[in-house]
Amino acid sequence: YEYDLLVVGSANADLVIDVERRPAAGETVLGGDLAVHPGGKGANQAVAAARLGAGTALLARVGDDGHGRLLLDSLRAAGVDTVGVLVGGAPTGVALITVDPSGDNSIVVSPGANSRLLPSDVRAAASLFHASRVVSAQLEIPLETVVETVRALAPGSRFVLNPSPPRELPAEVLAACDPLIVNEHEARVVLGAACVSNDPAHWARLLLAKGPRSVVVTLGAEGALVCDGSGVTRVPSVKVDAVDTTGAGDAFTAALARKLGAGATLADAAAHAARVGAAAVTKRGAQESYPTAAEVDAL
Ligand code: RIB
Ligand code: NA
Repeated sequence: YEYDLLVVGSANADLVIDVERRPAAGETVLGGDLAVHPGGKGANQAVAAARLGAGTALLARVGDDGHGRLLLDSLRAAGVDTVGVLVGGAPTGVALITVDPSGDNSIVVSPGANSRLLPSDVRAAASLFHASRVVSAQLEIPLETVVETVRALAPGSRFVLNPSPPRELPAEVLAACDPLIVNEHEARVVLGAACVSNDPAHWARLLLAKGPRSVVVTLGAEGALVCDGSGVTRVPSVKVDAVDTTGAGDAFTAALARKLGAGATLADAAAHAARVGAAAVTKRGAQESYPTAAEVDAL
């Protein structure tokens, strides 16, 4: 394979303001200086994988504008192959992000060009799919494009999905996931009416019963649960002081996908991914906070 990982997904400019607290409806609060960071769940995954040393390509769409150039620069600086990054059709996606003193964020996304990444773009990228060992996706692009992504998988390549922002998923997409990676909120939405308990281990089993070959439920500071035919295993987290959690989940998914492609077990890959995610929350921004393999080892 020419690529360890092909990411199909979004690219956003993240417009970030630190706040003491978020405004209620009708209220104005003053925050800190505006920071503009390269982000978007797809571009984040691609940068995270490349920083860790994976040969990585991204299939995405940005606008022909300054935000699009910011993203292309970040991707190229990390070593991501941008041959699949299409330009034009709508403004680059934007995420309006507030970060509170605990490092937690709230995000509103304007998809912009991401909503113009179409099934036809996936079909036109067949050569990228045939060259990729693992393919990953998220849900900031049209669901039809994710459906076409699973149809485009080359025989023998592996598909990893983080359904974020979450929605219920077609059986065809669920059946392709190995693994499906969800946090607690995403687990509840993907399970829908089937979410009958508060027990993440139970969710993992219920999610597996919906068709994926494996499931990972991330639990933040509590680590993660991995679930496949052999049952549910808990993977510990690494304790760090969180500065900015934005994009930590994307780093987790990318690190997991890369390790699985290298032949690791799901539990070992998730333990490694937890360390990568922990490193990412210790720095500001998403892509700029992602560690190299040496930085993960030093943690
Ligand atoms: O997962 C984090 C990302 O979500 C941010 O970079 C922002 O762009 C939103 O898409
Ligand atoms: Na970060």
